Amino acid sequence: MRTAQVVPIEMSEGQDIGRERPGGTALVKTVFVKTYGCQMNVYDSARMTEVLAPLGYRPVSVPDGADFIIVNTCHIREKASEKVFSELGRLRRHKEARAAGGGRMFIAVTGCVAQAEGAEILRRAPYVDMVLGPQTYHRLPELVARMERAETGGAGRVATDFPVEAKFDHLPARDGGQTISAFLTVQEGCDKFCSFCVVPYTRGAEFSRPVAQVLAEAAQLVRGGAREIVLLGQNVNAYRGQGPDGAPWGLDRLISALAPIAGLTRLRYTTSHPADMDDRLIAAHRDVPMLMPYLHLPVQSGADRILRAMNRRHTGDDYRRLVRRLRAARPDIALSSDFIVGFPGESEADFEQTLALVGEIGFTQAYSFKYSPRPGTPASLMDGQVPESVKADRLARLQILLDSQQAAFNRQSVGQTMPVLVERPGRRPGQMVGRSPYLQAVRTAAPVGAIGSTIELRITASDARGLAGVPVAHASERVTA
Ligand code: 5AD
Ligand code: SF4
Repeated sequence: MRTAQVVPIEMSEGQDIGRERPGGTALVKTVFVKTYGCQMNVYDSARMTEVLAPLGYRPVSVPDGADFIIVNTCHIREKASEKVFSELGRLRRHKEARAAGGGRMFIAVTGCVAQAEGAEILRRAPYVDMVLGPQTYHRLPELVARMERAETGGAGRVATDFPVEAKFDHLPARDGGQTISAFLTVQEGCDKFCSFCVVPYTRGAEFSRPVAQVLAEAAQLVRGGAREIVLLGQNVNAYRGQGPDGAPWGLDRLISALAPIAGLTRLRYTTSHPADMDDRLIAAHRDVPMLMPYLHLPVQSGADRILRAMNRRHTGDDYRRLVRRLRAARPDIALSSDFIVGFPGESEADFEQTLALVGEIGFTQAYSFKYSPRPGTPASLMDGQVPESVKADRLARLQILLDSQQAAFNRQSVGQTMPVLVERPGRRPGQMVGRSPYLQAVRTAAPVGAIGSTIELRITASDARGLAGVPVAHASERVTA
């Protein structure tokens, strides 16, 4: 896999999220949300759309003619803010066209770029009406209502920055999931301060949602049709949410509490830090069958010198030991990872240690990046910045290895029988697409009614688009993988 989990600035562009809600105000207005970045942002965009529905805003998939445009930004990539500014330049034309026709359009910038560069946005893009950091979405309805009343529109623009706890407390409950596999944010922020990363600065300190809130939202998602829940957090295995007993619960206990929800068949979580992978969570991979045998566990580098400079808090051998423990608990667990090549000071020998670690562990999927200096992070000021050509060469070599591991893993699936959770129709008539326990996309012939059920498939082929399989028996919805 060459695309990155948090990069795909283009991943969900122009995605039409949220749904029309019955009721609401008589006047239907439209909101267009453009989402950059990770699943966390996709989730936030969906929630913003939901909180705007009672004000009469219906989501649309194109900006033309929309009453309200939200640009939900991601800061992790190089030039992220420049991309946001050029996007805003394009939206400005929509706003002007609208004004020329006697109409009105609001533009809001949200997410991590808003948090990090809010003042700059308000200065450089005077046509932006509102800037909101990631923890302030519950205030959207109030702010939009104020804007609509022209209290703040134009001259009096809005910029907010609120404490993290406020967000989850005040968002209204969601009314069901739209998808078979639903994301549920349980944790936000990060205290790790890897020297290359902006997340601790943009998303702030770690915060975990209380267990009761997570359970209630999960039950609602399942009532809305979700069969799989993916627990999300920047550092999800650092989860320490307040339990019903008042004590902090770890992710393992949260998983055990979610597992009995009737109708839920699968659980996953992402993204984890190796230093927070404790014995109990590892044991959950052995003891909770519906916890899928797949783990995204970024290692970043195989060289201890570089891991230290990255402030990763683990060595290459720590990672190897951890993988051995995971495989002892769940022998078929599939591992995915993130890598950075060309971190400041990385020598050819350091890079070869990364290749060696990849060769030893064997990843079924991976995201790899050239190091890109992020303003404000310690690594951006380090000596020994690596030339672009060297980074490109190392990235290409690493990706050849990772791609070959992924292809080999998919090939060895051919002939196996595995439970596949059917998620959506495929490209061809009569074709459905689902996911294997190891997160592989699997195509098969099945009726539309199979969506949401888990069927046993014998895998017959592996190609660039994923796997293909034929049903061997239908399993009921309650059968877990
Ligand atoms: N340069 C390159 N890659 C980065 N990542 C985070 N910050 C940077 C950076 N400055 C990668 C890491 C992380 C993933 C989400 O993005 O590999 O795990
Ligand atoms: Fe960034 Fe490191 Fe935190 Fe991951 S663990 S979000 S890479 S600081």
